[in-house]
Amino acid sequence: MNPSSRHAAEAALTEQVVQSFAKADNPRLRTLMQSLVRHLHAFALDVELTMEEWELAIGFLTATGHMCDDKRQEFILLSDTLGLSMLVDAINHRSVEGATETTVLGPFYVPPLNVSPADADISGGAAGTPLHVSAQVRSACGTPLADAWVDVWQSDDDGYYDVQKPGQEENLRARFVTDAEGRFSFWSIVPVPYPIPTDGPVGKMLGHVGRHPYRPAHIHFMIGKEGYDTLVTHLFIEGDQYLESDAVFGVKRQLVVHLDDADGGWTASGDRMGPHKRLKHDFGLRASSILNQ
Ligand SMILES: [Fe+2]
Repeated sequence: MNPSSRHAAEAALTEQVVQSFAKADNPRLRTLMQSLVRHLHAFALDVELTMEEWELAIGFLTATGHMCDDKRQEFILLSDTLGLSMLVDAINHRSVEGATETTVLGPFYVPPLNVSPADADISGGAAGTPLHVSAQVRSACGTPLADAWVDVWQSDDDGYYDVQKPGQEENLRARFVTDAEGRFSFWSIVPVPYPIPTDGPVGKMLGHVGRHPYRPAHIHFMIGKEGYDTLVTHLFIEGDQYLESDAVFGVKRQLVVHLDDADGGWTASGDRMGPHKRLKHDFGLRASSILNQ
């Protein structure tokens, strides 16, 4: 077969598969499947995909699925490390004046079991530099938002989340509810950079291509209130060595924060407090669009 008739046969195959979805009742599903087929076929043609590579890819995706359970989500990790999660995030959360930028959910979110009181210590006695976080949640227009729920989660001083440690109870993970002025506060420890899990197929992929697995130090926040889009974001710590090379591409300049040094003293409840770091921050929520209400 000469090159031009070969290309015609390949194009005809692609078109035949695209047309096989033409009668899908759901128009959005039809668009998604037809576009997916076009791009998959174009990719295979572009790189002249070999049978061995195709089999390897099937094996890789199979292993990715086998790595998933209720506490480990290797597909999210794959999406994150390919930058797809941040692209989808960008498509769905265009910047709005006064609203906090969003970033990836990550694979370690688990809804906290209980609501914690203001100034609760979520570290559970974990080693690390003490950190006090105080924040206010507002609308994008600046109105303080009372009764918003705020989920917080972070890794420990060794770079692990509670769900990564067998038998570990909920720790460094909590839910707060904002007060009448939209404020919430808690004690924790200063986060440290950590590698994403490298014991699965995604870690192997990073190794094969010479990419490091590290994420810059961060605290996760998810903030919600009826009438507003739920905000999924992190705050990254200024000066971290991985801010420019986050393994999941999640850093946005607006989300990099400075920690102040605070002297020791006494808390309002009469507890002794040593020198610690302090983080003050305001979050802005965007109003839900009319279409979403
Ligand atoms: Fe994280």
